[in-house]
Amino acid sequence: MNNELNTDVLIIGSGIAGLFSALKIAEFTNVIVVTKKDETDSSTNYAQGGIASVLGNYDSYESHIQDTLIAGAGLCDPKAVEIMVKEGPERIKDLIKIGTKFTLNKNGNYDLAREGGHSVARIVHAKDLTGKEVERALIQEVNSHKNIEVKEDYFAIDLITEHNVNLLKDSQLDNRNCWGAYVLNNNSNAVIKISAKATVLATGGLGQVYLHTTNPGIATGDGFSMAYRAGARMANMEFIQFHPTALFQPNKTNGNKERTFLISEAVRGFGGKLKTINGEYFMAKYDERKDLAPRDIVARAIDNELKKSGDEYVLLDITHKSAKEIVDHFPNIYNTCLSKGIDITKEPIPVVPAAHYACGGVMINEFSATNIKGLFACGEVTMTGVHGANRLASNSLLEALVYANRAAIGIKDFMKNNVIKIPEIPSWDDSGTLTADEKILITHNFKEVKQTMWDYVGIVRSNMRLERAAKRIHTIFEEMEEFYKRTKVFVEILELRNLIAAAHIIIKSARMRKESRGLHYTIDYPETDNINPPQNTIIQNKNP
Ligand code: FAD
Ligand code: SIN
Repeated sequence: MNNELNTDVLIIGSGIAGLFSALKIAEFTNVIVVTKKDETDSSTNYAQGGIASVLGNYDSYESHIQDTLIAGAGLCDPKAVEIMVKEGPERIKDLIKIGTKFTLNKNGNYDLAREGGHSVARIVHAKDLTGKEVERALIQEVNSHKNIEVKEDYFAIDLITEHNVNLLKDSQLDNRNCWGAYVLNNNSNAVIKISAKATVLATGGLGQVYLHTTNPGIATGDGFSMAYRAGARMANMEFIQFHPTALFQPNKTNGNKERTFLISEAVRGFGGKLKTINGEYFMAKYDERKDLAPRDIVARAIDNELKKSGDEYVLLDITHKSAKEIVDHFPNIYNTCLSKGIDITKEPIPVVPAAHYACGGVMINEFSATNIKGLFACGEVTMTGVHGANRLASNSLLEALVYANRAAIGIKDFMKNNVIKIPEIPSWDDSGTLTADEKILITHNFKEVKQTMWDYVGIVRSNMRLERAAKRIHTIFEEMEEFYKRTKVFVEILELRNLIAAAHIIIKSARMRKESRGLHYTIDYPETDNINPPQNTIIQNKNP
């Protein structure tokens, strides 16, 4: 069997970032997209609320920029925000051109919704199944493109850099190249080397690092970990966004890559009110924007109410709105809750915060290039500077679109202006390894990482909790490394290895920030440092 593939551009991931960049890159060259499960398995597919963009005639770029900067708590890069906001409407038009059907209002215009932190209604959506509709249109277009080949069940293990081809001595940490990736074909169990002139990391998020998450099982932080291992610069990994309103389900363990169902922020945008189990309305105590304050504020308010009362959940009440309108706006949420015995038109929804989004990631420039030559990145795995210390609702899909398009521009330029010579790349070496016979150890370690991160690196942190988490994750890392070195690779161990690395990166970044800002709140430094200029937390693996 041929365990080698070559392409001009390798894209890792088939969510909005991977597929949209594939379409843009395929306009000038050939592309292979690898994706670790089937092509629709992504966070994108579960996005509910929609995509924020300046589309209403009452709206302005300035207003969207300001809302984004305010949510970001002083840490956004204003240039990156401006790029996203101003290029957003064009990218939404691109989606419409390939057949994405967004919901229209009764006048035939796009029905724009409002979410937390937005001063006006500006979220274009497809009912409450926006991601599914966007992903459908993208896949249809990608699958009919002659320059794009999609390979499902292809799990990227590691990026190929000087490190893998034994040229490390000759290259500085910030002067290295990426020439593709080693990828496990999960059907044949063969590790394939895919060499490429340029590689796009579009692997999405890391919610599975936490016990309770809205993210699907694929979100094990693979891209963050691969990039870190390869020596990419990473920033602001301490800023993990907890969505305030995930459905509370008693007896749900979540230990094994389950996903907690999201109750979209659009429900609060539509008038939903948060209350305690006793019916006390509490958001007015915490912020003048009440239920539509940015997510960090709402999630901390819920956390505080739960700690005070000892309850397991709070309530989100939308019953004062007409049943017909609720069902029409939120068919997915209505039907899913109904299937679990909750009629949201008649009774409030029990909700809890859950890990939702990584605001930090691989640092990229305005054309989506990382510090590693030939390695580009877009989507949730990146840190563009757009989100700062807290992402504004529905800015994620927009950021992914804008920076996926910019990756294509960056790659076109990179391929035109560089003579790219790919060295001889060795085949994957698994001599001396055995097939794993104790997979239970993996499952156990997986659960331990998730529980540790939930208990010690959650919404409220402290020096002591972070230190404890660091120690536990290190012990699990040592156990896993020992197992990894003597075992033939398979998906579960690769995911565990990535989960541990992602946890390590989050904890390390959180320990570096000696203040509370946005999503990072620690009882040891409860104030925001308003004396020194705000700093990104930048880390880089010096021994890749
Ligand atoms: P993803 O869509 O997650 O795609 C990542 C891809 O990479 C997948 O195909 C995956 O299989 C692949 N992959 C990962 N690792 C590997 C590997 N090792 N090898 C090969 N392939 C790999 N944002 C908004 O703006 N608006 C919303 O309304 C909204 N709602 C959301 C609702 C939910 C429930 C969730 C979970 C998120 C929501 N978000 C929303 C956030 C947003 O959906 C994500 O940030 C965005 O979809 C990320 O896109 P992506 O392309 O970067 O990653
Ligand atoms: C939601 O619908 O609440 C999710 C929106 C987002 O994550 O931006």
